[in-house]
Amino acid sequence: MAVDVLLGLQWGDEGKGKIVDYLSTKYDVVARFQGGPNAGHTLEFEGIKHVLHQVPSGVFHPHILNIIGNGVVLDPIIFKKEALALIKYNIDLTKNLVISRRAQIIVPTHKLLDKAYEESKGDKKIGSTLKGIGPSYQDKIGRLGLRVGDLESVDFNEKYKELITHHKRILDFYGADYSELPQMEKEFFDGVEFLKTFESANTEYLINEAIQSGKSVLAEGAQGSLLDIDYGTYPFVTSSNTTVAGACTGLGISPSSISKVFGIFKAYCTRVGSGPFPSELEDEVGQELRDIGREYGSTTGRPRRCGWIDLPALKYAVMLSGVTELYMMKTDVLNSFKTIKACVGYKLKSGDTISELPYDLYDIDEAIYEEVKGWNQDLHIVEAFDKFPAELNNYISYLESKIGVPINLVSIGPDRKETIMKNNILV
Ligand code: GDP
Ligand code: IMO
Ligand code: MG
Repeated sequence: MAVDVLLGLQWGDEGKGKIVDYLSTKYDVVARFQGGPNAGHTLEFEGIKHVLHQVPSGVFHPHILNIIGNGVVLDPIIFKKEALALIKYNIDLTKNLVISRRAQIIVPTHKLLDKAYEESKGDKKIGSTLKGIGPSYQDKIGRLGLRVGDLESVDFNEKYKELITHHKRILDFYGADYSELPQMEKEFFDGVEFLKTFESANTEYLINEAIQSGKSVLAEGAQGSLLDIDYGTYPFVTSSNTTVAGACTGLGISPSSISKVFGIFKAYCTRVGSGPFPSELEDEVGQELRDIGREYGSTTGRPRRCGWIDLPALKYAVMLSGVTELYMMKTDVLNSFKTIKACVGYKLKSGDTISELPYDLYDIDEAIYEEVKGWNQDLHIVEAFDKFPAELNNYISYLESKIGVPINLVSIGPDRKETIMKNNILV
């Protein structure tokens, strides 16, 4: 069988974790292919909320094999915390998780470097989660990084020391304080010993064998398309390919093995961290979206910046990844809005108007909006996709006609059950 890929189409936090968990009943394998503990994927069911950072969101379904692919950067300290937190829900990751030997390891100095680089940027800070993501991908590309497979080697400690010596030189250059390093290292080596008790493998074989033997695979994206290292709002991006190509390099699968691409977006838009956001609302409407949508980061707790949906940006993300169906999240957050706005283009500082994403979003002076009528009612009474209020149907058709891809799922709350599919593939 084939691989379906699920991606965030905005600046992250679209609700990927919820939907991966929801769709997992239909799949045999769920695999993370990029990012690391900068991700915070929230799952809610049976009155409990779980936030996963590195572990794939299929873990709550006993039949699923979960894979952490080679494209991921893995922090052993955070991994240990996550794995232990899951034990009280009877989830034993030693039985349902396999980690790629090629996945990069985040070492404590990666986090110190992240902090030093951010501090050196002054008012040009990216707003990184400070989880060591940028520096560990830098070492991967610089061919210096340590990989999960290196944990099997007798000279792992030597390799570690060499890398730390290199990092200390950079930290010294930045005048960074690394007095907390010994304590961080203690936790790190404790995490490393813990990590060694889990299964690691050449997961590129595992996943391709699964596909060959007819198993279905769901690839779980982290972050969002507008944070992609190549196509996002550079330099205010993360350090991996969050678009569909990342699934191929991050798992070792060919493009021809990909079948569907699910694109997840919020019915409005948010961003956490710095960088341009043309449809941002820095007024009471933005605050209302933040309050109703509980828009505070799942990883850092920072307030998320809120605004209206940005259609040129969504179309761009759909184009880059060949999205085949759209899933609209957090629709309920707009329940009380009498009118809803959608950004359809931009007026540039030069005076021109455009309907495509410009090279630099800071060239935009203001967003151009169209307005649609809100549905202004609670959606919990809705039992099926064809029973939505007329104004919501209208919003859906409006977005579909602008983006050119069907919306097949509407999410009306954080719980697994608060999900309405058009053609329910799960039954
Ligand atoms: P992810 O990173 O894409 O997995 O998304 P996050 O978990 O960081 O952020 C999404 C937040 O919205 C979480 O708190 C979810 O519980 C919540 N959420 C997901 N879907 C819905 C929805 O349809 N409505 C509401 N109100 N909240 C939702
Ligand atoms: P999920 O998977 C939202 C943002 C950070 C920062 C920039 C770079 O939960 O959707 P990094 O730590 O990667 O160096 O930060 O990217 N960012 C996210 N924003 N959701 C995420 O993940 C994010 N991961 C990173 O806020 O602006
Ligand atoms: Mg998140």
